[in-house]
Amino acid sequence: MKHTFVSDLAAHVGETVTLRGWVFNTRSSGKIRFLILRDGTGFVQTVAGKTDLTEKEFELLGEIGQESSVEVTGTVRADRRAPGGYEITLSGLKPISLADDYPITPKEHGTTFLLDMRHLWLRSRKQHVVMKVRHHAIAAIRDFLNDRGFYCLDTPIFTPNACEGTSTLFETDYFGDKAFLSQSGQLYNEATAAAFGRVYCFGPTFRAEKSKTRRHLTEFWMVEPEVAFATLEDIMELAEEMVEYVVGRCVEICEKELIDILERDIKKLETVKRPFARLHYDEAVALLEKKGVSFEKGGDFGGGDETVLSESFDKPLFVHHFPTAVKAFYMQPDPQDADYCLSVDLLASEGYGEIIGGGQRIHDLELLEKRIREDNLPLDAFQWYLDLRRFGSVPHSGFGLGLERFVGFVCGLKHLREAIPFPRLLNRLNP
Ligand code: 4AD
Ligand code: MG
Repeated sequence: MKHTFVSDLAAHVGETVTLRGWVFNTRSSGKIRFLILRDGTGFVQTVAGKTDLTEKEFELLGEIGQESSVEVTGTVRADRRAPGGYEITLSGLKPISLADDYPITPKEHGTTFLLDMRHLWLRSRKQHVVMKVRHHAIAAIRDFLNDRGFYCLDTPIFTPNACEGTSTLFETDYFGDKAFLSQSGQLYNEATAAAFGRVYCFGPTFRAEKSKTRRHLTEFWMVEPEVAFATLEDIMELAEEMVEYVVGRCVEICEKELIDILERDIKKLETVKRPFARLHYDEAVALLEKKGVSFEKGGDFGGGDETVLSESFDKPLFVHHFPTAVKAFYMQPDPQDADYCLSVDLLASEGYGEIIGGGQRIHDLELLEKRIREDNLPLDAFQWYLDLRRFGSVPHSGFGLGLERFVGFVCGLKHLREAIPFPRLLNRLNP
């Protein structure tokens, strides 16, 4: 028998179709019984009176448990009042697997409970929309870069050394040697960029973040473009074009669900248009002072500082030229003033925090060796990386966009843990 998906109902108005899915909800109203079916592509209300079904089927309709799996047959009617715009008058109801006492009921549940039930929570409406946005964001990012001649060359997860500081490394045993889970594919991107010009990697990233904040996961996904011959300004332009494009695609595809289910203020996303706001680090510090935030100049911004900064603009904000001392060893010092480096963070509007970090890389061999030593990193492990400066070194730049931070911003999530199917946090490795 041929099956139809809820997402395809528009093409079947007036026809009899068979759908397979799960019972989202049931209710009775007088002599009529309703069953909302979800099949992964959408939700549809089905309805039956006593004479539409066999006696056994009608009885089942009245007592079937939430999340039982079923096959339903019925006629499709366009109905503006129905959620989704279509309703199905049932002529058949076949149980596949009956479920009792589904733990996530329509009542309110605490977050810890829901996270323990993450394997089931993903079926709920809000989580479903967030995952859909995530899927379309990934597709849009890949399309954006692929259309611009970037090669996707993924980088290793097992790595012999740190990229983003030694304090957040996950160490693991590698046949008797030490290995670390990748904090960033950047160093390897720099090698592939010298081979292909424009490259990116898009994969899982690991940081042993020992803080419990709403902006930190220990495992997250990052897309990292890297471009040979590009300057800091070039990479900022690429970043804002990409963010504008990907936000635009997510809104275009998921607009209705963002508004109806997530209650996202879409206007806040419609202002994500180039050019984004830009502040030099010193200007950002001055703005914090003006807003009455006590901040010690020379340091990195904390989550609270980022919120204050971004709330002064109705679109994303680039902060560039951070102090060299607070950024990673590979950042190119500003030729005008080596105390600052050619680095950039992109802060999402409305206080969603840093979604992008990047900059121009040191391309001079001696300077890079000096910076590796100053950071007490093992020079031996970096010999291959230094080779990139020995053989045809060119100025080059890149950035990393944290997928969950981005999805959190688009969906208006308070906490990043809902932006990934199975979040990994300081105190959570299950399910
Ligand atoms: O600013 P970060 O540390 O930059 C890098 O790793 C560079 N090597 C990237 C590059 O230039 N190729 O991280 C980049 C982004 C952040 O802006 C943030 O969006 C995300 O990765 N991120 C996290 N997301 C979730 N949980 C965490 N613990 C994160 N740490 C960083
Ligand atoms: Mg950063």
